[in-house]
Amino acid sequence: MKALVVYYSRTGTTKKVADAIANALKCPVEALSDPKNRRGPIGYARCAKDIILRRRVDLGKLKKDVSKYDLVIIGTPVWLHQPSSITRTFMQDYCKKLKKVAFFCTYMGAGEKHVLKSMAAVCGKEPVATLSVRSLEVYNGTYVHKVNGFVDELKHIFKPKLK
Ligand SMILES: Cc1cc2nc3c(=O)[nH]c(=O)nc-3n(C[C@H](O)[C@H](O)[C@H](O)COP(=O)(O)O)c2cc1C
Repeated sequence: MKALVVYYSRTGTTKKVADAIANALKCPVEALSDPKNRRGPIGYARCAKDIILRRRVDLGKLKKDVSKYDLVIIGTPVWLHQPSSITRTFMQDYCKKLKKVAFFCTYMGAGEKHVLKSMAAVCGKEPVATLSVRSLEVYNGTYVHKVNGFVDELKHIFKPKLK
């Protein structure tokens, strides 16, 4: 059983969770990016505008062939109670090719449940497991326990095949 972590991160919080999951599962990661400058307050406003207008983004070519993995774990920051535009575009374009999915998100304080539901709706697939982590938990290190729980859940579901 082969797993892949696919994520987008604007400021590194979701990346930390993605890397921790990938390390625990010993699986590769695909970091999504787009050509837009999303740094600073102007970048923040651009993200918000993209969400409000439901804009797609140019993902470019992915490094991995996501269809080759048995499980793809998709991660996003919460933007205005929605998955980021980048993650949404990825899901719109690739979810049909994915066998099993799991979702995770990072957020400041609200909207994570809605995001996980939206991800399932956009993907057209129910996740085998989900994880939501507050950015504060990432900063203070307590996210590690949550990640371990999520990874144990995945290992249990795919036992003994996940490697
Ligand atoms: C445009 C925008 C909208 C956001 N909206 C929310 C929100 O609705 N709820 C929330 O809890 N956090 C919100 N946040 C905060 C991010 O979800 C949070 O800081 C996240 O951990 C950032 O992940 P990253 O560092 O991987 O980009 C928003 C951030 C941005 C840039």
